[in-house]
Amino acid sequence: MNSIVISLGGSVLISDEMEKSYFQKLAEFLKQIINEYKVYIIVGGGKTARSYIKLGRNLNFDEKTLDEFGIDITRINARILTSFIRYSNVEIPKTTDEAKKMDKKIVIMGGTTPGHSTDMVGAELAEKINASKFIIATNVDGVYDKDPNKYPDAKQLKQVSIDKLIKEYGTDWGAAGKNIVIDGPALKIIKRSKIPTFVLNGKKLDELKKVVNNENFNGTIIKI
Ligand code: UTP
Repeated sequence: MNSIVISLGGSVLISDEMEKSYFQKLAEFLKQIINEYKVYIIVGGGKTARSYIKLGRNLNFDEKTLDEFGIDITRINARILTSFIRYSNVEIPKTTDEAKKMDKKIVIMGGTTPGHSTDMVGAELAEKINASKFIIATNVDGVYDKDPNKYPDAKQLKQVSIDKLIKEYGTDWGAAGKNIVIDGPALKIIKRSKIPTFVLNGKKLDELKKVVNNENFNGTIIKI
């Protein structure tokens, strides 16, 4: 059975609106694809993680501690989703090896260790299980030429090469709570493992469906 790894931004799952309908639609979508694919979802930390990290930074905590706050929040976010989706795991795996061993149709987890974001966890898992697709479901419609949350004239890129992204963002982890579309350590793994990678808006479940079904979608294809 083919496997798909989805890195689901914390801010996609847990928004200010706390939408129940998003959970319902996501569960419905997953139900439609689980007979064809094994699905792994890595949930991010979102706004809550960034608030804790900001407070910790103001209190002069070191970067490792700040990353650990972030990881804890990603795991709480993952638990909210596993509690809702009955046919997923209950215990949250702490490593990608643990996730790989789970024999559930849907495996949901958060972060693992300090020094990267959940995108890297997704890329690492996708490499380990030889996933057919790695989908980064974030809070914007793909990769842009500049930050679309800051610049209204930012242009969406339909495709972008991994080398261009690495040139622009590097492969290092900067600081806890860093908010870029794909983090450096994830880029490094995507390049190395050549996993077909797609970036889209996770709120738009129709676009997610299109990527899974190999149809044209509104988002960005990462060219390896
Ligand atoms: P993420 O940065 O993955 O959250 O984790 P996110 O969901 O992508 O953010 P949004 O919602 O899309 O905006 C939050 C923080 O937790 C730490 C990092 O500090 C990261 O910035 N973290 C997370 C780790 O150190 N290791 C991990 O494996 C995961």
